[in-house]
Amino acid sequence: MSTFKSIDAKELNVREMQGLLTSAIAPRPICFASTIDSDGNVNLSPFSFFNVFSANPPVMIFSPARRGRDGTTKHTYQNIKEVPEVCISIVTYSMVEQISLASTEYAKGVNEFIKSGFTEVPSDTITPPRVEESPVSFECVVDQVIELGNEGGAGNLVLARVQRIHVNTGFYDDHGKLDTTKLDLVGRMGGNWYTHSGIDSLFEIPKPLQKMGIGIDQLPESIQTSNILTANNLGRLGNVERLPSKEEIMQVRSEYEIASDISQSELQTLGKKILEKGETEKALAILMS
Ligand SMILES: Cc1cc2nc3c(=O)[nH]c(=O)nc-3n(C[C@H](O)[C@H](O)[C@H](O)COP(=O)(O)O)c2cc1C
Repeated sequence: MSTFKSIDAKELNVREMQGLLTSAIAPRPICFASTIDSDGNVNLSPFSFFNVFSANPPVMIFSPARRGRDGTTKHTYQNIKEVPEVCISIVTYSMVEQISLASTEYAKGVNEFIKSGFTEVPSDTITPPRVEESPVSFECVVDQVIELGNEGGAGNLVLARVQRIHVNTGFYDDHGKLDTTKLDLVGRMGGNWYTHSGIDSLFEIPKPLQKMGIGIDQLPESIQTSNILTANNLGRLGNVERLPSKEEIMQVRSEYEIASDISQSELQTLGKKILEKGETEKALAILMS
């Protein structure tokens, strides 16, 4: 039996809360944000409290929080209050050591493009430049900043509306669309851990919108309670639109030459193998034969 510890959020100090949140809410995409102050000083910093929240209008949110140790604000936040514009560049594995360097707390006015060795390219519609090494950059205007508190660790939600997008076409597929398998994007995990979406860690889950899965509860009891099939196997099986007919079951029986005295565990092992080859309907017919 699993053991859970239930924690009242008020019991944790900022450090403990930050540690728990960033370990559990992961991987987080990284916003590499370039901003500018009213004197024209450029700043570049990474933020993993970040995501996209709307496609129409296209809006991203990231949070340059107050420092946990003393509640002071970060240059990115200060710059945005002075000049409400930000260029958000995405981060790939080939950039990760440099983005970590760019997170160093240099003095106000220090340009982290120079410190971390990235190339500034002027933006078309806003004053902060973009990062040439990033495959995709978004020129954004800041519509709103929502301050969540005045104490250390308090988030400042920057609502950034996309105006113009720059895509490196070397990351396109044959149809002129961004190719996920080429991007090798980086995610931030808990502590010092990161992850990246290299080809070995990518997988697909077919979920055509027009399909209505029957649900795990409609699968036969022997399948639902199997010790051989995993929860992921059941999830995939629950996505079929209907249970196989008697004829379809007979057909797979003869196709796979399933003997009448086959044991339940042998049958489920075979069904699992076929399922994991991507032949869901056939696998279910085997499991029900
Ligand atoms: C990968 C990564 C993600 C980070 N995410 C955040 C974040 O979401 N919020 C935050 O306040 N600081 C975050 N930091 C720390 C800031 O980058 C760091 O405080 C930086 O010095 C802020 O720069 P600034 O004061 O020039 O804006 C992150 C650091 C790294 C390396």
